Amino acid sequence: MKNFLAQLSLLIFLFISATEARKNPQICSSSCGDIHDISYPFRLKEDPAGCGDPDFQLSCKNNKTILNFHGGLYYVKRISYDERTIRVADVNLASGSCSLPNRSLSMQEVLMDARYPGLADYSYSYALNFVRCSNNISDLAKSRAPCLSGNTSHVYVNISRDSVYSYDVPKPCKVISTVPAFYENMVQNLSYETALKMQESGFDMRWSVECRDCRAKGRGCVNKFNTANIFQCEEEYDYDAIVGLVYSLFAAVNLAEIIGAVRFILLPPVIFAFLLHTYFSMRKKIDVREKSSQTDQSRGKVTRNIENHLEMPPKPVLISAQDNCVMAPESDSPKEILIPESMERSS
Ligand SMILES: *[C@@H]1O[C@H](CO)[C@@H](O)[C@H](O)[C@H]1NC(C)=O
Ligand SMILES: *[C@@H]1O[C@H](CO)[C@@H](O)[C@H](O)[C@H]1NC(C)=O
Ligand SMILES: *[C@@H]1O[C@H](CO)[C@@H](O)[C@H](O)[C@H]1NC(C)=O
Ligand SMILES: *[C@@H]1O[C@H](CO)[C@@H](O)[C@H](O)[C@H]1NC(C)=O
Ligand SMILES: *[C@@H]1O[C@H](CO)[C@@H](O)[C@H](O)[C@H]1NC(C)=O
Ligand SMILES: *[C@@H]1O[C@H](CO)[C@@H](O)[C@H](O)[C@H]1NC(C)=O
Repeated sequence: MKNFLAQLSLLIFLFISATEARKNPQICSSSCGDIHDISYPFRLKEDPAGCGDPDFQLSCKNNKTILNFHGGLYYVKRISYDERTIRVADVNLASGSCSLPNRSLSMQEVLMDARYPGLADYSYSYALNFVRCSNNISDLAKSRAPCLSGNTSHVYVNISRDSVYSYDVPKPCKVISTVPAFYENMVQNLSYETALKMQESGFDMRWSVECRDCRAKGRGCVNKFNTANIFQCEEEYDYDAIVGLVYSLFAAVNLAEIIGAVRFILLPPVIFAFLLHTYFSMRKKIDVREKSSQTDQSRGKVTRNIENHLEMPPKPVLISAQDNCVMAPESDSPKEILIPESMERSS
């Protein structure tokens, strides 16, 4: 019996420890080169199985921490566990020398990945768009990438706020690669030297275990109220969506028309009732006056009096439907309410 109890308590102990280990995987901390605090959810490939989260795996090569993101390789320059951001730079660009990116990565592509839902700070974010042109484009002469250009092919780095696509650029040019970049200064001089600096500094992505989990459940994620980089799953019944739907319904049948129609249906009886009410209340007043004054006022005078009153009824101000109606704002379509924070809603 004693033996059984001992075995039972050992089993319970083991069960609790295993559960605790799964609940607190952040016990492990590894380091690689300059990155000393690789801990939950991040893990290194070489870490023991229980460490970190396999979706946030990094590798370590020649003392450099590397993130494989959508098949492109990026050096990890910084991980912030407070801000929940990771700063990375394309392996081909991180040294600040002339090269094409290891992989083309658009800003939209970062947004679509629930593990890394978007760039950390869009006010400092730019896209470096590598465009190859068959002609010499004088507008972009300063941002010409010498190592990528030849006599008949000219490669420029077109710095913009968002990824540029081939239909955005002049005919003899084609976008051959794009990569996000972070830059604290205002981009005034679109020189190739500026582009190299931006390539080297890389870009900050948000990371979120919650967002990844939401997506696994087939739900989108949104920023938690008043927090920049903390996410939670969208409500099952999305109130924004309902409000948006009601809005668009009203917009569809035109709120103005409804109000106009209601006015025209209700206004005549209301005016009629008001006139009737005025008439009878005046009659009452006159009756009272007639009785109380006891003067020799003639009937005709009273009748004229009534007529005078009736001749100027309260002016029924008919308001036309077009004049002053509440217009449903057209720009507030449900799409715009929903899309920005919901990641990968469809897939
Ligand atoms: C990595 O850095 C450590 C010391 O920080 C050094 O001993 C080791 O040789 C380095 N390895 C490589 C491949 O550079
Ligand atoms: C990306 O980097 C890896 C590792 O350095 C390399 O093997 C691969 O060829 C690179 N691809 C491109 C397109 O630069
Ligand atoms: C391109 O044009 C600029 C001036 O517009 C000129 O300075 C430069 O030499 C030209 N480059 C080539 C490769 O033709
Ligand atoms: C490019 O043009 C220069 C002179 O304009 C010439 O010397 C050079 O051989 C050309 N290079 C190629 C690869 O055609
Ligand atoms: C550079 O990008 C802007 C958009 O930011 C675009 O209008 C322009 O056509 C681009 N120029 C070239 C040569 O790619
Ligand atoms: C812009 O670039 C030119 C060289 O291309 C440089 O002489 C000038 O100082 C730069 N201006 C600023 C504001 O960085």
